[in-house]
Amino acid sequence: MSAQIIDGNALSASIREQLAQRSAALAARGVTPCLAVILAGEDAASAVYVRNKVAACEKAGMRSIRDVYAADVKPETVLARIEALNADPAVHGILVQLPLPKQFDAAAVLEAIAPEKDVDGFHAENVGALMQGTPRFIPCTPYGVMKMLESRGVKLKGAEVVIVGRSNIVGKPMAMLLLAQSATVTVCHSQTRDLAFHTRRADVLVAAVGRARMITGDMIKPGATVIDVGINRGEDGKLCGDVDFASAKEVAGLITPVPGGVGPMTITMLLANTIEAAERAARGE
Ligand code: GUN
Repeated sequence: MSAQIIDGNALSASIREQLAQRSAALAARGVTPCLAVILAGEDAASAVYVRNKVAACEKAGMRSIRDVYAADVKPETVLARIEALNADPAVHGILVQLPLPKQFDAAAVLEAIAPEKDVDGFHAENVGALMQGTPRFIPCTPYGVMKMLESRGVKLKGAEVVIVGRSNIVGKPMAMLLLAQSATVTVCHSQTRDLAFHTRRADVLVAAVGRARMITGDMIKPGATVIDVGINRGEDGKLCGDVDFASAKEVAGLITPVPGGVGPMTITMLLANTIEAAERAARGE
């Protein structure tokens, strides 16, 4: 058996068409959605992600601002910049790329972003809203995963969903969104005793650990939906996910590839959140 692929590039393209219409409607009212992206430090992967986010804005006819700081930048400098972006009515979304250099208190930086411009959904107020089931912005990667599941009509009500990874960026918000759809959610992590015991029970398996090809076919329930959030560089130098695609696709029913799976969806949902922020601002909310 060979799994069907959930193509993140194709789904992104169709969502971006709808976003282009919303963007055009805003343009007709003299509003150009604008995302400000802040990058501090020299993390190579972060630099690529930021470049991709800015390029996607431009391709979508949106404005973007890219502020890059050296690894030894003073936190006050970045905080002052966030304050200026908060106060600028032409800026609708603000994103600080994580991780931040060690002199930063990341939570304090995220808290400095105006909640109504926090398109990542990482501000404590927005995390709380998501947890209460009334999200203001849904974090982009879990949002993209939900769109992928929805696009294939994957049943979540009563389904056994296992998430591997408990980060604030993916694992925890993913659990909240799936709970809201009435799935039975298990969150596994580095201290989980028998990972395969859990993953083998999963109707839907979400891998978000950051370890190349650690989920192998023998850990997957036949016919399961497998969502691979990982972006790793394998020993062969190739880009790969947290799932061993070759063995997993022989067991799974649906599977996302890497590259071309969750990655493009994350950026698409960032554009969606920025347009949403611009629409709310245009409505005076
Ligand atoms: N670092 C890794 N993923 C993300 C993300 O979605 N947003 C931000 N701001 N930083 C990240």
